[in-house]
Amino acid sequence: VTDLTTLERIPRTLAYAAGSLVLLDQRRLPGERTEVRCTTAAETAAAIRDMAVRGAPAIGVAAAYGVVLEARAAAARASAGAADVVAAATAAAAILARARPTAVNLAAALERMRAAAAHAAGAGANAGEVARRLEDEARALEAFEVEASRTMGRLAAAMLPERARVVVHCNAGALATVERGTALAAVYELYEHDRLAAVYVDETRPRLQGSRLTAYELTRAGVPFTLIVDSLAATLMRRGEVDAVLVGADRIARNGDVANKVGTYALAVACAHHGVPLLVVAPTTTIDLDAADGDAIPIEERDPQELTVAGGERVAPEGVHARNPAFDVTPAHLVHALVTERGVVSPVDAAGIARVAGTR
Ligand code: MRU
Repeated sequence: VTDLTTLERIPRTLAYAAGSLVLLDQRRLPGERTEVRCTTAAETAAAIRDMAVRGAPAIGVAAAYGVVLEARAAAARASAGAADVVAAATAAAAILARARPTAVNLAAALERMRAAAAHAAGAGANAGEVARRLEDEARALEAFEVEASRTMGRLAAAMLPERARVVVHCNAGALATVERGTALAAVYELYEHDRLAAVYVDETRPRLQGSRLTAYELTRAGVPFTLIVDSLAATLMRRGEVDAVLVGADRIARNGDVANKVGTYALAVACAHHGVPLLVVAPTTTIDLDAADGDAIPIEERDPQELTVAGGERVAPEGVHARNPAFDVTPAHLVHALVTERGVVSPVDAAGIARVAGTR
């Protein structure tokens, strides 16, 4: 067993203390390690929208603290009552909800905060108590995601061959969560137990979460990996060099359809063709029982400039028409297994999803 103090060398995505939320600015990685300090919900929403913080679980936890910032400020005002704090938290949630549409962790975290505020106020808490209750709730969500990432890593690694060669897409690691990650938690688990034969990190066009973020955190953790262009994965599968593809998720519908970073569907199709299992590793906070299937999942459309300009350089002629959906949907039948902190779902279908998500 390798001693993975290495993970401690990866900077934390976020830290909340006494009225400010400090985020690692992921837009500047790998070149610069800088922070963004948020003291309002609007600043937190802007950091989520502009992707200073990104990755479904991290977005959810950041949004929860965004609500805490406003609740605390409201409670500090002289003569504030519990209703004022609830109103401030509700207004904050409305701002944060608009930051990004696809990762359901955002909406789910805000609903959790709304329910906590209403419950505390309903039970007769005063303004300061409601604000403290909300801070506890955000910390509980953060702790949940930390624990979930450890469990998912163990469960996913247990499904892989003794010496495993895997492909990962986007960044589903420590930088996308608050500890080890989802799909990448399995990679850390394999590495710690000397079971990682190879990990291929695809670039993840257009924002390069693979080459900028996954490659950064694996380098910090001391885990060897090979960077590839997105389109090489199918060829590696054809050559028999891949045992599994591991990805995270941004929203999983009731029938098991999975929305994740654009390119996941193409990987799933290549996996099906080559008989390579696709494992989706995601906490139950990423399941949306209100979405009947993948068609009900809102897919974020981002600025086409992400395709036409790279690192400040034009990489397509002026005025070209470009489409830039940030996510795609992989039908449930192409997913070999969904690994959650509450167990493995395989086959991935409505009954399996209900089993892990039913009573959260
Ligand atoms: O646009 P991003 O970088 O927020 O997209 C992130 C992903 O698609 C991840 O795969 C997903 O959030 C799961 S991360 C644990």
